[in-house]
Amino acid sequence: MPNLFSTFTLKSITIRNRIVMSPMTMYRALDGHTSDYHVMLAGSRAAGGFGLVFLEQIAILPDGRTGSCCAGIWDDGHIEGLARVTRMIKEMGAVPAIQLGHTGRKGSEKKPWDGKTQLPPDHPDGWQVRGPSAITYGGRYTYPVQELSVPEIREIHHAYAAAARRALAAGFEWLEMHFAHGYLGASFFSPIANQRRDSYGNSLENRLRFHREAMDAVRTVWPENLPLTMRLGSDDLHPDGIQFNDAVWAVAELRKHGLDLADISLGLNTDAMVNPPFNEEAFMVERAARVRREVGIPVGVSWNLGVPRVADQVIRDEQADLIFLGRPALANPHWPVWAARELGQKDPYSLMPEDWSWWLRSRRGSAGSEGWPPAEYPRDPA
Ligand SMILES: Cc1cc2nc3c(=O)[nH]c(=O)nc-3n(C[C@H](O)[C@H](O)[C@H](O)COP(=O)(O)O)c2cc1C
Repeated sequence: MPNLFSTFTLKSITIRNRIVMSPMTMYRALDGHTSDYHVMLAGSRAAGGFGLVFLEQIAILPDGRTGSCCAGIWDDGHIEGLARVTRMIKEMGAVPAIQLGHTGRKGSEKKPWDGKTQLPPDHPDGWQVRGPSAITYGGRYTYPVQELSVPEIREIHHAYAAAARRALAAGFEWLEMHFAHGYLGASFFSPIANQRRDSYGNSLENRLRFHREAMDAVRTVWPENLPLTMRLGSDDLHPDGIQFNDAVWAVAELRKHGLDLADISLGLNTDAMVNPPFNEEAFMVERAARVRREVGIPVGVSWNLGVPRVADQVIRDEQADLIFLGRPALANPHWPVWAARELGQKDPYSLMPEDWSWWLRSRRGSAGSEGWPPAEYPRDPA
């Protein structure tokens, strides 16, 4: 029976455990370029024992960013900055992963701490957002959406392929397509955002054409022996939006186009969700387990899995193959070492670089002096 610390092999890549630093947009890039900050962020999590390490959604085009300070890969000039990140991740024993994406109608945003509202197309840091149909998201996203023409969709698919070629050159060994969270891929799949009457809309089959063609374009340059995965918006939690049964079908379809693993997440194509489960522990796990069971494909899952015992049980029950951690990876760069200790794993320090683990194993001191909370710490201190 696997557990959180079992290795995981997909195609030619073996990850040392089941713990993934989930993609997280950081608003720290300049003209799409990553910097020392990104080397620090990814390197420290790799040194803390994460098996697979993502940065953030990396934009395939400038208008595919969340905001003007998000990272991109639309130019060969972006390769070297990303290569520094992948070298550090590998040096620390983890596998470097890239999430390629386009934000579609949810782009042109201000930073969250500046209000997270959308900037108008004529603002120096904003742009004209594009999507499957001219339907504004609403809420914080107020500006008109330009409907993509078929030639423009083809250009986006070329941009995916060019981005994948650059990702390979930068040393990434795992590629995830971002088709979730209301961004372009998610919006093509959702009847709420996609009301086209042509071959990219109008039926369930057509609403998945964008994804099939994107996968095919990426597979022309991304080697067969490296994992090609996706994060899928599998449910809009709205009667008019993506229905989970359709998502199960979509995963099976995309498998025929070279999909190796599905990371099951939310659609987020509308704010009008019915009973949003954001406060519930492990709320995506059942959906991920159903995809794994019914499609017979490895799956990853995130959302509220930061308690080690809970994450470990998901793997032991074979509900998912990988645990994606977002906020826990921000809160605790050593989450995997901490979890290994909490779960009584033999030699938790083996997940760290030897130049740290040697000292932590060999140097004697008083109880607790190495800086970990006691194993049986109170979970809810009064
Ligand atoms: C700061 C932040 C930025 C995020 N950016 C992305 C992103 O770029 N791509 C993505 O797919 N998900 C993104 N997410 C979602 C996370 O990857 C993750 O799925 C979500 O936070 C749920 O996991 P958690 O409960 O462990 O935080 C982001 C989350 C956070 C907290």
